[in-house]
Amino acid sequence: MKHTITRKEDLNAADYVIDVIAPKVAKKFRPGNFAVLITRSNGERIPMSIEKAEGDKITMYIKRLGKTSRELDTWNVGDALYKVIGPMGTPPPLKKYGTVVFASDLVCGHAENNAMCRELKKIEGNHVISIQSFPTKEDVYPEKERAKKDADEYILATGDGSVGRKGHMIDVLQELLEERKIDMVFAGGDIPALQKLSELTKKYNVPVMTTVRQIMVDATGMCGSCRVFIDGEQKLACIDGPMFDGHKVDWEAAISRLAMFKGKEAEAMECYNEKMKAVV
Ligand SMILES: Cc1cc2nc3c(=O)[nH]c(=O)nc-3n(C[C@H](O)[C@H](O)[C@H](O)COP(=O)(O)OP(=O)(O)OC[C@H]3O[C@@H](n4cnc5c(N)ncnc54)[C@H](O)[C@@H]3O)c2cc1C
Ligand code: FES
Repeated sequence: MKHTITRKEDLNAADYVIDVIAPKVAKKFRPGNFAVLITRSNGERIPMSIEKAEGDKITMYIKRLGKTSRELDTWNVGDALYKVIGPMGTPPPLKKYGTVVFASDLVCGHAENNAMCRELKKIEGNHVISIQSFPTKEDVYPEKERAKKDADEYILATGDGSVGRKGHMIDVLQELLEERKIDMVFAGGDIPALQKLSELTKKYNVPVMTTVRQIMVDATGMCGSCRVFIDGEQKLACIDGPMFDGHKVDWEAAISRLAMFKGKEAEAMECYNEKMKAVV
């Protein structure tokens, strides 16, 4: 199976969107799933949230961050990935919640936000509110027009107020929690922000499910690298998550685990930069 890239466009200066042929993943996809990409036969496995599945294609939003995501950014439509594995993870139940909010502030969170809102909106009895925050006007995705249709209400926020409401997703959520009855919150994005958001929802006694991104090596539950602690119990983000009850996550442990791999990643990036210099 050739996992050919059929679309590749910039979402902003840091993030891009790709559509890739992956029929098996597309067929079984449920919102909240992620895929594992392997760009070349000796490449690392990188997990990516799936924004949508249509026909035999899946869509992913990718941040130009380290070695693999930057290398993939140099590829074009027609190029093929070595492997696309999935769908991975255990998504939260899609059911009637009442007034349900999905808040996101980062690339993977925005992908999950679109995917979840689209399905939650189809369920009778749900009123779906999507909050997406970006640092400034230039960072807002061009796809936001479509994201608006995915929810009953769409609230765009920017940190500097250059477009939409001024503030972060947490500020917007706090206003909503003050103004009206919210039955359920989902959130995806920056881990320290998700910790803060979980604390906020606890204050208002509203349940919250958040994505807990951890470093994944095999993403099949074998290596233990993505372990998280939920209510004191060890879980694996790749198979039990990555969405967990935000009120039960040991956030301090999750944050310090993420920091463990920084040195190795910097080394890989430096190596890649040296290789690119040699090519030029
Ligand atoms: C369930 C899940 C869903 C994700 N969804 C998205 C998404 O939709 N869009 C997106 O841009 N990114 C997403 N990520 C993060 C993405 O996997 C990493 O950014 C990617 O692996 C970076 O690889 P790199 O070689 O470019 O960067 P590296 O230099 O290797 O890493 C840069 C940063 O990426 C994260 N990271 C690196 N390797 C992994 C790994 N194997 N598993 C998890 N995180 C890693 C770490 O925070 C690290 O500091 C997701 C991660 C998880 C766990
Ligand atoms: S990534 Fe290896 S157990 Fe989850």
